Amino acid sequence: MTIKECSLTSSRKILPIIKFLFVTLLLIFFGILTAIFLVWVILQPSKPCFILQDATVFNFNVSRNPVNLLNSTFNITLSSQNPNDKIGIYYDRLNVYASYMSQQITLRTSIPPTYQGHKEVNVWSSIVAGNFIPVAPDIALHLDQDQTTGAIMLMLHLDGQIRWKFGTLITGKYHLRAMCPAYIKVWKSAAGVIVGKNAVEYRLIRTCMYEEE
Ligand SMILES: *[C@@H]1O[C@H](CO)[C@@H](O)[C@H](O)[C@H]1NC(C)=O
Ligand SMILES: *[C@@H]1O[C@H](CO)[C@@H](O)[C@H](O)[C@H]1NC(C)=O
Ligand SMILES: *[C@@H]1O[C@H](CO)[C@@H](O)[C@H](O)[C@H]1NC(C)=O
Repeated sequence: MTIKECSLTSSRKILPIIKFLFVTLLLIFFGILTAIFLVWVILQPSKPCFILQDATVFNFNVSRNPVNLLNSTFNITLSSQNPNDKIGIYYDRLNVYASYMSQQITLRTSIPPTYQGHKEVNVWSSIVAGNFIPVAPDIALHLDQDQTTGAIMLMLHLDGQIRWKFGTLITGKYHLRAMCPAYIKVWKSAAGVIVGKNAVEYRLIRTCMYEEE
């Protein structure tokens, strides 16, 4: 019996210590959360600004027999600016592809992962291409109509994952989705600059828009 009493008194002594430790840890945890939240609110990280600078068309051709198959090859130049003066951006992943009339017509090309410092601007060039991409009859019809006017409305898509860096603090992953409209006069090479055999460069300068998640 005495042993039992003894252990009881010792556990009575330990319990408040555990409670105290638990409360302290909880306070530290919420303190850190509040600090992160305050830094976030005060610094207000802004998403990078993407601009589609130009596109060089190497190829844009549809074959009709037996089905509509589209070949296209573009070299696109994209600039990205970090608008934040106290926050850096890690681009862990950034994929680029093109669509026409809501249909994806090229494969995804990835831009190499980079770190972008405060207010820094990066310029990336990337080849986006698709060969033997089947297009639906209504889209092929639209292509025919576009061919008579000489231009296509292409949409360039950016799909990426970034992290922000405040001092030594690095945030979790943030998913980015943006679109850059590109009106390209593919059948009017005089509107561009000939930069090689079957290669015409078109100046675009179009700001990309963010897609809401
Ligand atoms: C389509 O293909 C033909 C033959 O390969 C080529 O001469 C022409 O330049 C291509 N058109 C475009 C817009 O790339
Ligand atoms: C598409 O590309 C493939 C492979 O390069 C080629 O064989 C085919 O003739 C091309 N089609 C058109 C319409 O240019
Ligand atoms: C794509 O365009 C960029 C910038 O105009 C150029 O530096 C690069 O060599 C081009 N790539 C190809 C494969 O032509």
